[in-house]
Order: sequence, then structure tokens, then C-alpha cells
Amino acid sequence: MAYETELMGLTLKNPIMTASGPWAGNAAGIQRCIDEGAAAVITETISLEARERISPRLFAEENKLFNTMLYSYMHLEEWEDEFRKIDRKDAKIICSIWGATPSEIAYLARKVEHMGADAIELSISAPIGSRNRFLSQVSDIYEYALACVGAVNIPVMVKLSYEASCSPWFLRELEQAGVQAVSAIDALKGLAGVDIETGKTRMPTYGGYTGSHIHPVSLATTATLHQHTRLPVVSSGGVMSHEAVLEFMMLGATAVQLASAILFSGYEVISDTIDSFERWMQEHYFTDIATIRGNALPSLHAYEDIVPGDLCAAPMEKCQRIDCKICVQSCLPHAVYYDDTGSIVIDELLCDGCGLCVARCPYRLLTLEWN
Ligand SMILES: Cc1cc2nc3c(=O)[nH]c(=O)nc-3n(C[C@H](O)[C@H](O)[C@H](O)COP(=O)(O)O)c2cc1C
Repeated sequence: MAYETELMGLTLKNPIMTASGPWAGNAAGIQRCIDEGAAAVITETISLEARERISPRLFAEENKLFNTMLYSYMHLEEWEDEFRKIDRKDAKIICSIWGATPSEIAYLARKVEHMGADAIELSISAPIGSRNRFLSQVSDIYEYALACVGAVNIPVMVKLSYEASCSPWFLRELEQAGVQAVSAIDALKGLAGVDIETGKTRMPTYGGYTGSHIHPVSLATTATLHQHTRLPVVSSGGVMSHEAVLEFMMLGATAVQLASAILFSGYEVISDTIDSFERWMQEHYFTDIATIRGNALPSLHAYEDIVPGDLCAAPMEKCQRIDCKICVQSCLPHAVYYDDTGSIVIDELLCDGCGLCVARCPYRLLTLEWN
């Protein structure tokens, strides 16, 4: 069963692409992404200056990931050579580019179109380095986007920071410039921590914070973007599994990008995610992507439209796990306590129905009931 999707006039064989990053930093990496079945591969960001690779540049704590990598270390000429080595099969190649001025962007855009890119992703949001002045504040984004769109005959997508995604004005400027899609979100600005014994930061500079921890931010952004723009949305941020792919699609995404998942699990995560996604679709009798796209949006309401409910926490069965105490510790009004027999009791008069004990119970023994 085919789960094709249309993006900016391109037919993608499935909705899963690989994001811009070092896994697609040369022909060999791009080939691995293609061979693992990615519908489209976005190159590491190509700029006019090849970047020195600083070491270390990747920092991980449990499954939190930080990087201090700003764009590709290869020159444009090297990229031209690399491109010739790629066996594209049925995958699309999208070139990520960054330029400091509109004319630099136009130049790069024409170059990558000539190299054979199927589309361009304009990278404006990297949270690394102080020379990237874009983020959400740039007042002349229209000029930058127009320079790119006007220079080429291939479609242009703009990659947004979280901040830019929240700005209806910014999105309107992109629409007016003729951009055909947006991708969101880029990494958040993060620091791995401070070693309190030495008083030094664990990273020498701010980094891009990515992976499963930014997933909720990215989910909310995908949903919000539909309120601000009619442009197709390609979701990026904490896509670590096929379930995340489905979540983003149900929030209206046209396609999704894998990034940190490749660093944590290797290129194989691409084919694993595609296989699991397609299996899930078949098991649920969904014959095409359109049948799931946006399905979750009607269940998302404005805060002001939520009707207050008089709910109270209640145990579904007797609990005497006196060592656990998570529900007791989670209750600000002290409505949850152990009685003389060591069983959990919830005082209906004190419980205000916040739901935290229910959400945190590791044994799923609590529920919310109408008072
Ligand atoms: C090591 C690393 C390097 C990255 N390099 C780029 C880049 O060159 N250009 C770009 O637009 N995004 C870059 N990104 C951001 C990713 O494309 C992606 O948007 C971000 O990691 C969020 O997705 P994730 O949470 O699934 O990792 C990079 C991310 C990582 C982890």
C-alpha cells in the first residue's frame, strides 16, 4: 500500500524525510538516507563559508542532545562534486542553504538548483552562533525569502525557529514572498548544564537542543501553525518513532523530518520508522495519508472554550503501596493520604480535580470522576 504525499508539487513516496544535519553532510550520508527509504533528504546547511568543525560538538545527557554545529564544513565546490556521486533512486533531494544577505541567498539558491536540487530549505533559525540575526525579529525576512524564491524555478521551504513559528506577521511575509512550505521547529537554544563543582558550563557555547524533549514544543507548534498560515507544514522536533510521525500527521503535518533519532539509533531508524508507520496504517485500515491528516485538530480547543468540570480523583482499586507515595507528594491540598490500614484515601472535599496524582500514578490505579 502506498502512502504518497504531495509537498510543494513534489510527490513523496512516504511522509518521512531526513532533516538537515551531519547525517546528510556528504554524498555517503545522503546515500545512506536514500537507501534506508527516506522520501526526501535535506542536506546539511550549505553556506558560502565552509565551517571548521570544533571538537567536541555533540553533548548528550541521557536522551537530551545538544550540538554546536553550525552548517556544513564543505565548500560549495565540494558539494557540487558530492552531488554527482549520489544515486537518487526515487528520493527527492532538498538543499538546505543559508546566506548572510539576500544576494548571497540568491546566489546559493541558483547554484543548488543547478546542482540538481528538487527543492530548497532556507535555514534561518539556527540557535548557534551570534551572526545568525534572524530568529523571529528580522524585519526584512520578506527580502530574504523573495531573493530565494525569485532566483530559482524549484520550490522553496523556510525552516522556522520556535519563535518565528509563533509570529503571524512573519508567516504572512513568507507567504507574500511566494514560499511554498514551512518546516518547524529548528533546534531550541540550550545549555547542557553547569558543573557546580568547577563553576563552569558543560558546553563552551550555546547549543542547539533537540530530540525527544523538544517534541511537545514541536507538536504545539505544528498545531498552531495551522491557525496562522495555509502553507503546508513539515514537522521537525523529537520525531523518534512512528508514533511521533502519526501524531504530527494527525495535527495536520504534510510530512515529518527525522534528525536526532539518526544520531541516537543510526541510519536504520529511517527504514524502521517507515516500516512501523506503514504497518500501523495498514493495521488500522487507513489506505492513504489524507485519511489521518489533521484528524486530531478538532479535539484541540482554545483554553477559553474549555468548560470547567467538577472532577475528583478516585482509586480504581485498593492501593497499599506505602513506599510509593507519588500521589501523596503530588497533592498540594493534602487530599491524598494513607489511612490507618495503609490504604490510599482521597478526601473528596479537599481534592480540586487537578489530575496530577492520576497522571503520575505509576500503577495507573487512579481515575478522575464527576463529583
Ligand atoms: C547535530 C545536529 C546538526 C544540525 N545541523 C543542522 C543544519 O545544518 N541545518 C539545519 O537547518 N538544521 C540542523 N539541525 C536541526 C535538525 O535539522 C532538526 O531540525 C532538529 O534537530 C530538531 O529535530 P530533532 O529533535 O528530531 O533532532 C541539526 C541538528 C543536530 C542534532
